[in-house]
Amino acid sequence: MKKALSILTVSAMAVSMLAGCGSSNTAATTAAATEAAKTEVAATEAAKTETAAATEAATAAAAEAGATDLADKKVGVCIYQFSDNFMTLFRTELQSYLESLGFKPENISIVDGANDQATQTNQIQNFITSGVDVLIINPVNSSSAATITDMVTAANIPLVYINREPDEQEEKRWADENMNVTYVGCDARQSGTMQGEIVADLENKGDINGDGKVSYIMIEGDPENVDAQYRTEFSVKALKDAGIEVEELDDQVGNWDQAQAQSLVANSLAQHGKDIEVVFCNNDAMALGALQAIEAAGETVGTDVYLLGVDALQEACENVKSGKQTGTVFNDHISQSHSAADAAVKYLKGETNDHYIGCDYVKVTTSNVDDILASLG
Ligand code: BGC
Repeated sequence: MKKALSILTVSAMAVSMLAGCGSSNTAATTAAATEAAKTEVAATEAAKTETAAATEAATAAAAEAGATDLADKKVGVCIYQFSDNFMTLFRTELQSYLESLGFKPENISIVDGANDQATQTNQIQNFITSGVDVLIINPVNSSSAATITDMVTAANIPLVYINREPDEQEEKRWADENMNVTYVGCDARQSGTMQGEIVADLENKGDINGDGKVSYIMIEGDPENVDAQYRTEFSVKALKDAGIEVEELDDQVGNWDQAQAQSLVANSLAQHGKDIEVVFCNNDAMALGALQAIEAAGETVGTDVYLLGVDALQEACENVKSGKQTGTVFNDHISQSHSAADAAVKYLKGETNDHYIGCDYVKVTTSNVDDILASLG
C-alpha cells in the first residue's frame, strides 16, 4: 500500500507543478502531464487549473486516473493448488491487495492448478488467449518454468513468478534476454537455517536424552520444490555448524500436507519411539499433522520431543505459544503477495523490475510469537 501511494503522490506532484504553467501552454502542458501522471484525464484536469485549490483537484484526478488505469487491466493468477494452507493465505492477501491498488474484482482471475502441471499449462494458455495484461504464476513444477516463460513472453505478457522458484539458469535467461519476468520469494536456505538455530539455542541443544547427539526425523515437502530441498538441508546444517552431532532416524516426503505428515510421523514414532528428539517439518501444515501423531503416541512436545515447522500459520503460532510446537519460521505471505502485485503494476506502467525480489524469513519462538500473531491480524 505504501509503495502504491508514493507512486500516486509523485504523479500528483508532477501534475500540480505543471498546473502552475498556465493555460496559454495547455497543449504542451497536457502532453507533459500525461507523461507525468500517466493518464490523460488527470493531465487535462491539471492543465485547466492554476490556483492552489485546483492543485487539490489535480491530485484527486491523478489518483482517480491511476485507479482507472488499473481497473481496466486484467490480471491472471495461477496457484499450484488451492488446498495448500500457505498458498490460501497468499492468494487471499494477493486478491485484496490487488483490489486496494485499484484492480476491479472482475478483472482479477485466480485459478487452481490442482497440483497438475498440464492443467496449469492449459490455464495459462487460456489466460493468454483471453488477453490478460499481466500474469502472476505459482508453478506446479518449477522445472516447467522455461516452457511457461516462453509461452507468456511470446504473447508479450509480463510475468511474475511467486513461491516456487525457477532454477538459476532460467532466472539468468530473463536478465540476459531482457525479459519482463521476475520472481518474488524468500530464500529457503534462511528458513532451514532458522529451524536448526531454534533447536541449537535450546538449553540442551536438542539432546533430550543426553546421549551426545540429536536424533531427528525429517518430513519433507514436495521434493521438486526448492523450498523443501533447502529446508531439509539447511536445518540439519545449522545444527552441525553449531557443533552438534546429529543422527537421522527417518526422512520422508509429506508433500506439504497435514494428513500425510500425520501418518508418516505416526509410523516413525511406532518404529523409533522416544529415540526421536526432534521432528523437523518443512512447513507448518505438516507440523500440525506431526503434532497429532505425537499426541496420539502419548508424547509431549517440549519434554519428549521438539517440533519445528515453517510458515507461521495462525494455528501453529498458537501451538508455539502454548508449548505444543517448539518453533516455526514466518514465511511472510503479506510482504510477498504485495511485492508480487507491486511488480505486476510496474510492468503495467511500462517500468521494469529486478529479476529477483526477495523477502526475509523471521524466526518464531515463545519470545516473539505474540508479535507475530498480532501482525497476522
Ligand atoms: C510453504 C509451504 C507451501 C509451499 C507451496 C512453501 O514456501 O512453506 O507451506 O506448501 O510453499 O509451494
